[in-house]
Amino acid sequence: MERDHASTDELLSMCAARGLTIPLRDIDDRDRILSILGTQPTLTGAHTVTVVKNYTKRPRKWSVGDFVRYFNARYKALGGILRQRKELQGATAIARVKEKRGRESVSIIGMVVDKRETKNKYVVLTLEDPTGRIEVWVSPNRETSETVKEVVNDEVIGVVGQTSDDRIFANAIIFPDVPQTHEIKKGVTDAYVAFVGDVEVGSKLFMREEFEKVVLWLSGQAGTQEQRDIAERVGYVVFIGDLVHGIGVYPGQAEDSDIHDIKEQYREFARYVKMIPERIQVILIPGNHDAGRLQEPQLPIYEDFAADLYAMPNVHPLSNPCYVTIAKTATHPGFDLLLYHGYSLVYYATNVQSVKDAGGMKAMHEVMKLYLRKRHLAPTHGSNTYVPDPEEDPLVIDSVPDFLVTGHVHDVAYVNYRGVTVINCGCWNDVSDEQIRRGLEPQPGKLPIVNLRTRELRIMNFYTEERRKAVQAKREATG
Ligand SMILES: [Fe+2]
Ligand SMILES: [Fe+2]
Repeated sequence: MERDHASTDELLSMCAARGLTIPLRDIDDRDRILSILGTQPTLTGAHTVTVVKNYTKRPRKWSVGDFVRYFNARYKALGGILRQRKELQGATAIARVKEKRGRESVSIIGMVVDKRETKNKYVVLTLEDPTGRIEVWVSPNRETSETVKEVVNDEVIGVVGQTSDDRIFANAIIFPDVPQTHEIKKGVTDAYVAFVGDVEVGSKLFMREEFEKVVLWLSGQAGTQEQRDIAERVGYVVFIGDLVHGIGVYPGQAEDSDIHDIKEQYREFARYVKMIPERIQVILIPGNHDAGRLQEPQLPIYEDFAADLYAMPNVHPLSNPCYVTIAKTATHPGFDLLLYHGYSLVYYATNVQSVKDAGGMKAMHEVMKLYLRKRHLAPTHGSNTYVPDPEEDPLVIDSVPDFLVTGHVHDVAYVNYRGVTVINCGCWNDVSDEQIRRGLEPQPGKLPIVNLRTRELRIMNFYTEERRKAVQAKREATG
């Protein structure tokens, strides 16, 4: 194409001829100019939200049979993903493996029902499929001994190994994972997405001033010129749950609240959302502090509690978890967001050896990578509370998203894992005395934003220096 060989000046005149304006700061950036020329970005055009998966099945009574069907549905979904792997295409049913005599190479796909360690440091996994159970032995002297540290109960994995007397000695453990070939998808418009962690309106610790500043920034009334330029391009704001402080979430919560009525908490939250310009699409999901059931998937915030939110045309209340596609156009597939509040994060940060080795509670992105590798948001029974939907396991990550977003732990963490932008969002509650006593270091007042054209992530800091100093002083006083 002629423009590939054109000089920067020639490119600029091409832009002028087409009526495209290039921001002053970009006039030396050839790639940027090319992109504007090629794509003619819409800055404030229609921002689209396509709901892909939103769990709205009404609650009902579950039976023991439902649990069985629920786990079968999980096995089927994850088994299907695993079977696409070359090493597992010939996977054998466990009952057939147990008929084999002598040493043979086999591969199986099974759900982990037990994990234990022998005196000789072998890790023994018990795997189950619809035909039976078998023990898989992992030697401490093999590479697999590292991989097995990631294995948790109730997840579905593949194993390649050698049979020997009713058991398998593992040569490889295979997770459903994100394909290695999965590439980061970039956009054609300059739209930004902002990710808002736990707001918890109604809590005494809610940082009203800082949060107001976010809303003012979004509406072009705060920030430097560069920040206002960005605000103009924000097309989407995601709230990742714990929108309000809630009522009776934990014992003694009332003492920490300054709004004691749940509807009033939502009205107050909605007042902020209303200040966000209407061109910005607002996506919100519930967390464990919100009104409604605690079991996952959590249904979208009930309309009776939050009528004000439902009355706004640019607000999309969805379930936890949910999938949405944003910025989809006639020529671009858009970006898939998998949104999950993150109730199970703490369980995996404190129970999985490989995550503990990588920093535990300070490495939430490692847990989120684990979700992607296991293609499940809470595989282990006990890591969350859930409804055993007999038709499907709604926490299976059946398609690879472009973004995996969580909150809940009031920390900011992010990583790019095989083309997936993984973000934990932080919060809008100041550090509590309890957190100081426990030596926790939450990161309030931070706002991750991502440019969809470049997929570049940056963190905007709204936490004031005065607050930081006050917390620092308390930490020193506590020793
Ligand atoms: Fe929270
Ligand atoms: Fe939470």
